[in-house]
Amino acid sequence: MKNTPESSLDVGHTGHPGELVGVGEDVWMDVIHKMDEVYSDLLQYEVALEEKNAKLEESQQFILSVLTAMSDILVICGRDGTIEDVNPALEVITGRKAADLRGTSVFDLFADADARVLARARLNVSCGDDEVHDCELPLRAHDGASVPVSFNCTPRFNAVGKSLGMVVTGRPVGELRKAYQALTQAHDDLKRTQQQLLHSEKMASLGRLVAGVAHELNNPISFIIGNVHALRRYAERLGQYLAAVHEGVPAEEVEHLRKRLRIDRILVDLDPLIEGTIEGAERTREIVDGLKRFSAVDRNEQQRFDLAEVIERAVRWVCQAERKTFKVAMEFSGPLPVIGSAGQMQQVAMNLVQNAADATRLTDLPTLRIAAEQVSTAQGPRILLRFVDNGPGIAPAHLAHVFDPFFTTKPVGQGTGLGLSISYGIVERHGGSLRAENLPAGGAAFTLELPLAR
Ligand SMILES: Nc1ncnc2c1ncn2[C@@H]1O[C@H](COP(=O)(O)OP(=O)(O)OP(=O)(O)O)[C@@H](O)[C@H]1O
Ligand SMILES: [Mg+2]
Repeated sequence: MKNTPESSLDVGHTGHPGELVGVGEDVWMDVIHKMDEVYSDLLQYEVALEEKNAKLEESQQFILSVLTAMSDILVICGRDGTIEDVNPALEVITGRKAADLRGTSVFDLFADADARVLARARLNVSCGDDEVHDCELPLRAHDGASVPVSFNCTPRFNAVGKSLGMVVTGRPVGELRKAYQALTQAHDDLKRTQQQLLHSEKMASLGRLVAGVAHELNNPISFIIGNVHALRRYAERLGQYLAAVHEGVPAEEVEHLRKRLRIDRILVDLDPLIEGTIEGAERTREIVDGLKRFSAVDRNEQQRFDLAEVIERAVRWVCQAERKTFKVAMEFSGPLPVIGSAGQMQQVAMNLVQNAADATRLTDLPTLRIAAEQVSTAQGPRILLRFVDNGPGIAPAHLAHVFDPFFTTKPVGQGTGLGLSISYGIVERHGGSLRAENLPAGGAAFTLELPLAR
């Protein structure tokens, strides 16, 4: 289609070459030359334009693919909040096409009047305010439901910094919130169950304790009561006798009264009776002292105490509430001085003895042997106490778990599985260790190792 100079020469030609009206041939040639240049420029522009167009299409396609892939919603608005464009995620949530949404107000997307007022106040950043982050507002979904969405809003500007409006992005938080709520609920339930378990463990050990203590107190109190009753009878007779003496009754009568009221016998009995009563009262005080020590809550108590005494008391208290056939052989002698909390150590010993009593429930001649051995180590003298029972031992699969909190093989209500885990912590705080093993001959052995006080 390109014009050749020859064909151009024909145009505007009168039919006689060299006879152009009023214009020289060189002028025509010049014009034709210029036209040619313009035409070739035009062609170049067209090629460049086509290239640019292809690039534009490519980048438009790129932007579209990004917008379509976004799961967050995106709204591009003008300065007054008029929607200029949205991404498919918003179309899905609102159930409206982008074409419908364009030209409407972004604030109409919100679920109710309150949310719209709030949105106008919070999301209006086109006047150059700060950006808004994580502003939670409800959006009206296609089914009319309100969907909580966490919005971010940023202003947008043109090349010379003039405000064009804002870009609003949002992420529905409903699912996240639901999952979070379910998690919180499960966590709360778990905490409550744990509290209940701890509580029932406390109640169970308190029950055992009270039974043991009640039994132990029963003995001295009953003989204190017996003695005091006898003392009252004796006091009456002595009063009768003294009254007769003071009234000045004849000597034979006084003598007779003395024999009848067995005054000499009373005088002989008085001392042992009072002695026995004092002993009983002291025994009671000792038990109460032990109880106070046991209930000592001070975790960091640092007192010197005799471990042998503590173990003996633990054995006594457990055995009093246990069946008569369960025997404990204590093969050690005190004193075994240890520094720490006697009450907590008693809790450890009581749990070990109680576990042995429970484990040997089906054993003939159920026995727990507690033996002690002193060893000297680089860190100083230590005491090894072995609690060996003749029960079935610990199942190999359970051996690694007996110190785990809440690990128990006992029926519900009979064990919380906290005994050994609490004991482990207590022994560690005392600078010692607690180990469990099965003996080749059968039965379980727990070794309690503690530093001895120098
Ligand atoms: N002497 C033992 N022989 C056999 N198994 C034992 C012995 N001592 C402990 N176990 C096992 O270890 C588990 C955990 O003991 P732990 O003292 O921690 O809890 P528990 O005795 O079950 O409950 P709790 O102490 O709260 O009453 C027991 O359930 C039992 O299976
Ligand atoms: Mg236990």
